[in-house]
Amino acid sequence: MKNTCIKAQEFFNKKLFAMLDKKLHLSTLRAPKFLPFLKQIIFLKKMTIEMTLSIIKPDATDRNLTGKINAKFEEAGLKIVAQKRMQLSDAMAGEFYSVHKARPFYNDLVKFMTSGPVVVQVLKGENAVLKNREIMGATNPANADAGTIRKEFALSIEANSVHGSDSLENAQNEIAYFFAGYEIIA
Ligand code: CMP
Repeated sequence: MKNTCIKAQEFFNKKLFAMLDKKLHLSTLRAPKFLPFLKQIIFLKKMTIEMTLSIIKPDATDRNLTGKINAKFEEAGLKIVAQKRMQLSDAMAGEFYSVHKARPFYNDLVKFMTSGPVVVQVLKGENAVLKNREIMGATNPANADAGTIRKEFALSIEANSVHGSDSLENAQNEIAYFFAGYEIIA
């Protein structure tokens, strides 16, 4: 697919330069014959490289599932560009999940996230935020699709094995919460 897109881009560039040589107006590009190439270039631009934060939660580290979970990310084409095993304090977990402070499950969530080691990591790849959420599956494992991490490994909605950022903006904030720039080897 990428090769086709690159060929389309090359073809498009050639046409563009030819038109500029001949001093043709850019509106000519709207001609129907150029439409497929324009569409492919827009598609290519949409496949952006992103970074997202992932946490392998205490229920998964406790069952020695870090390697199996990492294999899921790597098989799907995401690169683990930073990773560290940590014991979260009440303050760190509480602040990280502060968006859920008013929710009835907040105290239990903080207690669970501090009940054992976690592995925090940065995943990088094409559309990494969305891709990671697909690999993880639904928050509640009962609703997760077959083949997802939560379907295969999660024990409950709380002990659901992994966390992943839910937007690019949150990903940037969550990565900065756990990692200094020099720790991310992209
Ligand atoms: P996570 O993706 O880490 O984001 C917030 C977490 O709260 C979520 O995964 C769940 O593990 C946890 N949680 C516990 N109870 C609930 C609930 N009823 N609804 C949503 N999330 C919950």
